[in-house]
Amino acid sequence: MRSILLVAVLPAFVGAKTLSVDFSTFASSGLTVAQFLDQSSLYVSAYEVQTSYPSDPTADPFPHTFVTDNVDIQDGYLTLKVSGPTAQGASVLSAEVGTYDSNILYGTFKTVAIASPVPGVVHGFFTYKNDCQESDIELLTSFYTTGNTFVQPGLQLTNQNLQCDHTQNTHTQVAYPADPTAAEHEYTLIWNSSATTYLFDGTVVATLNSNVPTEPSSFLWNSWSGGNERWSAGPPTQDAILKIKSISLDYETA
Ligand SMILES: *[C@@H]1O[C@H](CO)[C@@H](O)[C@H](O)[C@H]1NC(C)=O
Repeated sequence: MRSILLVAVLPAFVGAKTLSVDFSTFASSGLTVAQFLDQSSLYVSAYEVQTSYPSDPTADPFPHTFVTDNVDIQDGYLTLKVSGPTAQGASVLSAEVGTYDSNILYGTFKTVAIASPVPGVVHGFFTYKNDCQESDIELLTSFYTTGNTFVQPGLQLTNQNLQCDHTQNTHTQVAYPADPTAAEHEYTLIWNSSATTYLFDGTVVATLNSNVPTEPSSFLWNSWSGGNERWSAGPPTQDAILKIKSISLDYETA
């Protein structure tokens, strides 16, 4: 009787997954950083993002390279480092981790983190299939409270344009409810078939209803700089470190 009931209930949960990692558990795990991340179903990126600068003068003046050396777990935090300074012509050493799961289709993605006070980098928490199937929470460390000609200050929230026309992205920015560099805060992205919703410490700060990604994706966390006054600014003149205390993901897979 009991097993018959279970069989009837199970199909509703097929494809639902949870991934929760508290990086303060690393110290007592007895694992290396690589092993801990692997057992947490997270990969570490190692690749270069090239740039079409200077033929495109609006492109990033610096390429950046995600290197495994810039990902660590220290004092209970996953640390994503952008190295500084960077010589002219060199690639900015950056950091990125992502979910092994690349078939995520909708879910709730929470990150508890302390942002870097060092100007000139982007911290990203985002769904990603490709540059036109992507929803982003981004913290620009040069533009917490003041902007420039190109960038409005605040927490940057974007659905990349589904036709890859980045002049048509769906974008907003909201004033930070609290200083993101002073303490841990929780950044949440909720992705469903009709909207992306963004929360700061559990309070909805924005909902975007267009260019909502439609394809199975991964979830990534990164920190990088292209030295471009149109977005990241920088590159940083000293190491800039994003500190992630925990992540908690609940999602469906396709
Ligand atoms: C998606 O999220 C939005 C914003 O919270 C909500 O209004 C809408 O009902 C949700 N749609 C689905 C299909 O769950």
